[in-house]
Amino acid sequence: MYCKAEEKPNEKTSTKAALSADLVKLDFPIFQANPDLIYFDNASTTQKPVSVIETIENYYRKNCANAGRASYLWSSQLEAALEDTRAAVAAFLAVPERAQQVVFTGGATDSLNTVTMAWALANLQDGDEVLLCPKDHKSAVLPWYHCKELLASMGKHIKIKHFDIHEVGDYDLKSIKNAVTDKTRVLAMAHVHHVYGLDMEVSEIREIVGNDVIISLDASQSVGHTKVDAQTLPVDFISFSGHKMFAAPGVGILYVGDRVKDQLQPLRLGGKSKAVIANDSLKINSNSVFELLEAGTQNIPGILSLKPAIDYINKVGLDNIEAHISKLTVDLWQKLIPLPNIEFAPGIGICACDKGWGIISFRFKGISSSDLGFALDEERIFVRTGDHCVWNKAEAEPDFLRVSMHAYNSPDDLEQFVQVLADIVDS
Ligand SMILES: Cc1ncc(COP(=O)(O)O)c(C=O)c1O
Repeated sequence: MYCKAEEKPNEKTSTKAALSADLVKLDFPIFQANPDLIYFDNASTTQKPVSVIETIENYYRKNCANAGRASYLWSSQLEAALEDTRAAVAAFLAVPERAQQVVFTGGATDSLNTVTMAWALANLQDGDEVLLCPKDHKSAVLPWYHCKELLASMGKHIKIKHFDIHEVGDYDLKSIKNAVTDKTRVLAMAHVHHVYGLDMEVSEIREIVGNDVIISLDASQSVGHTKVDAQTLPVDFISFSGHKMFAAPGVGILYVGDRVKDQLQPLRLGGKSKAVIANDSLKINSNSVFELLEAGTQNIPGILSLKPAIDYINKVGLDNIEAHISKLTVDLWQKLIPLPNIEFAPGIGICACDKGWGIISFRFKGISSSDLGFALDEERIFVRTGDHCVWNKAEAEPDFLRVSMHAYNSPDDLEQFVQVLADIVDS
């Protein structure tokens, strides 16, 4: 349905059918309401397919209730729908038998903070070392500094050590080799970088740090673009947001791997928590990771939106999406090369790889990228400029403009964008 016969690539070199962005676009009402929109800010958030919008609308219009708190049918049906969603997420992560280890959170930021608050605070000891990259998204970096301060207030002093980004845009493996010691307990990393757009080589990093180090993976920019397979990824925690994979904002996932699932402490307690007070002390009786970490009324419509989002990705085909996005990234890079005074950020523009993950960042000598962003906005082309959520100015790449694409972006979008860009930078 999403493939046009004539768009099939050379059958000799590929068995994959190309995805038709124009057909995908028809499923996203935003493009009917804004036919001239070229939306290139998908790393920030994606647009929503009609099935996701209807699920959220139906919850509010047709059966709004709390989940599992009451005797009436809607409440128990909603509870069952939330658990169906948990199962769907587990299947999406290729761990259908581990649904209990799928935790609903408020988003990737919340998931990444849950790793530090529910695991690290309880498990790190005086002298332990944490490795992270200061050029990663703030949400993957700041929680570790917060954790360090909280641990210090408990008399435990951990060290945070940095590894770097290689000039081509993936992690500098040498800097990881140099930083790792027998005190390294954790490494925090991105699966795909949010500015450089490269696969950050999880397996190679696992090999460098060895099996004992806990790896917390931020999959915010890979989920919905490529397979996030909790079975084969050699990591312990996986965090991502729903809104970057066609679902609603304010909901996310923390997947907790086998070897850390019994090392967690609760982060918040309240309604839904399986806990009692006995002899004036707290006794927690949760039977699963999610029971331990989820408390209170959750973002019910947000959680419900995850299932139609996953169904949509499966319907279009994750392989098709991956191939489409990769081709768009390579094609856009090639179209940008001839523009005068262009300077590429690390990523495809420097590594010249034959595969992309939908993100390409660049700037023009002598032109402010923010000004360019405003000029593009006037042409109804939405891109990201600014600090890209890197934690401080010194670490932030200077003033890059980021284009980030998804299944509904088309070759026509690229043509128009490059034409408009050329006109702006020429004038
Ligand atoms: C790599 C990465 N990590 C974490 C986040 C935080 O996601 P959220 O704001 O949905 O919590 C983002 C958002 O842009 C991101 O790109």
